[in-house]
Amino acid sequence: MVTIGLFDSGFGGLTVVRELNKQLPGAGVEFYGDNGRAPYGPLSREQITGYVRQILDFLSNKNIDAAIMACNTATAAAFDRVKDKYSFPLLGVIEPGIKGALAATRTKKIGVVATQFTIKSGAHKLGIQSLDPAVEVIGQACPQITQLVESGLTAGPEVDKAVSGYLGKFEGSGIDTLVLGCTHYPVLLDPIKRYLADGVTIVDPAVGTVAELKELIGSKVANAGSVIPTYNFYTSGDPHLFARVGSAILGWPIERVQKVVL
Ligand code: DGL
Repeated sequence: MVTIGLFDSGFGGLTVVRELNKQLPGAGVEFYGDNGRAPYGPLSREQITGYVRQILDFLSNKNIDAAIMACNTATAAAFDRVKDKYSFPLLGVIEPGIKGALAATRTKKIGVVATQFTIKSGAHKLGIQSLDPAVEVIGQACPQITQLVESGLTAGPEVDKAVSGYLGKFEGSGIDTLVLGCTHYPVLLDPIKRYLADGVTIVDPAVGTVAELKELIGSKVANAGSVIPTYNFYTSGDPHLFARVGSAILGWPIERVQKVVL
């Protein structure tokens, strides 16, 4: 079996696991959700990098063939620092978001919603403008969205209020493309669609990230034959909450979650 390690500060990374299951159903998964220390958005680069190293060390003992940092904040903070330090290939989610946005925009005005850290780092803006300096990038931090998803609240008036408030910032901006630059945000795709101006293309970087992974190891997965892949989930938070919220995000039941505090 080919196994992919993935991690996030919490539940957001499961939107990447869901995409992995869609594009590479034959691959196994070792997923670590650092829910006990989420959110990463308000933390410093040093703190986030320290957590990323701990998690990658943990995953590297799980016999994985590749890993995805299924967290934009972790990617923005630490990808360059850790990418060559492990024996398996490591993918981040920022670059696929950048490429997806550049492929989609016609007006050359792109919106990015992400955590405070990711927006402050300018990771998307710098990456987009290094490829096309004529593109205007408007960033908006949406910290409350992560908190809502982490508490298992994914619909209702509180969610609508937060989403409409954040997306209202793009009114009249002329953006035709919005990057969901935090893996928690696709969980709220329905309200996001509802409060986003008509005709704006939404880019979920998970799609491009898994497509990149498929290029890298797709043939290995195919050659592994028809073994039923194993999905293992670990959390530093509450395993019961993880099973409940995680099952809703994935769309299938998570049977077992192990508590692992690093
Ligand atoms: N899911 C994360 C991301 O993609 C981080 C959310 C948080 O912990 O603040 O950026």
